[in-house]
Amino acid sequence: FTIRAGSYADELVKTAKKVASPGRGILAMDESNATCGKRLASIGLENTEANRQAYRTLLISAPGLGQYISGAILFEETLYQSTTEGKKMVDVLVSQNIVPGIKVDKGLVPLVGSNDESWCQGLDGLASRCAAYYQQGARFAKWRTVVSIPNGPSALAVKEAAWGLARYAAIAQDNGLVPIVEPEILLDGEHGIERTFDVSLKVWAEVFFYLAENNVLFEGILLKPSMVTPGAECKEKATPELVADYTLRLLHRRIPPAVPGIMFLSGGQSEVEATQNLNAMNQSSNPWHVSFSYARALQNTCLKTWAGRPENVKAAQDVLLVRAKANSLAQLGKYTG
Ligand code: 13P
Repeated sequence: FTIRAGSYADELVKTAKKVASPGRGILAMDESNATCGKRLASIGLENTEANRQAYRTLLISAPGLGQYISGAILFEETLYQSTTEGKKMVDVLVSQNIVPGIKVDKGLVPLVGSNDESWCQGLDGLASRCAAYYQQGARFAKWRTVVSIPNGPSALAVKEAAWGLARYAAIAQDNGLVPIVEPEILLDGEHGIERTFDVSLKVWAEVFFYLAENNVLFEGILLKPSMVTPGAECKEKATPELVADYTLRLLHRRIPPAVPGIMFLSGGQSEVEATQNLNAMNQSSNPWHVSFSYARALQNTCLKTWAGRPENVKAAQDVLLVRAKANSLAQLGKYTG
């Protein structure tokens, strides 16, 4: 049979396997300049290019990071940025054995005709942008769209999210980038875990329907799902075992074993919660690499520890390494902290 992913098929499979390698996961550091500004404001810093550069330099040059981190998702600015010492960020990542990735979506806008829901832009010009990002050293991509439970989700919003992800995935593969497929089912809401489970089944069914229709090579993609949890405002909390039980049931019903890696987002969970939930999912042997692609759950304490002061850089890097190592252990099902 023919594998339809252009001339990059073998490379895509290799890249996906490298990112989904045992005991490692993804550092999501692709905050847009606006979101990065919010993070910097939380520690009293201005949103200048120099401050973003200082923070991102701190993250990627943490010594030995590559032992726990296989990929880093960058915002476009960072892909073309140098560290404070003048080295290309991309080169620093490669020297740490970390695959550089790139956020390629252009963010969310209101979905007219829906129940106040949103859709994700970015398909126009995507092929040429992906080709340029590959030239610049990126080897995987991310496209994040969202589905809201309190606002529906409407059939229209789910279909739009799934179709956009599938078109993006086909275009990224055609240009040598492994697409991370991320339909984030937002945590907001009072609903219980059963409701999240039902919505997740619907969303992933549509995502895989359209991925197949667009001839996406499943061996050359990675997924970034939300864990199946109760809504953030739900009175009943779920144990890591319950989250693992529902989430694995979802994955078994909807995700073909050809997919090499499932890299969860943290979505507002605390750092420890995100680690415990991942660890619980790795108590069974799974057909896919089940790992992490966390932003907040890797960065929160690190950012606070840094507080914008050069003398805190080492302490902040140590904190990042503690979280990265904890999640590495959780990927192996061996976290006991
Ligand atoms: P969080 O882990 O903070 O949810 O971010 C992951 C991410 O990249 C969302 O797109």
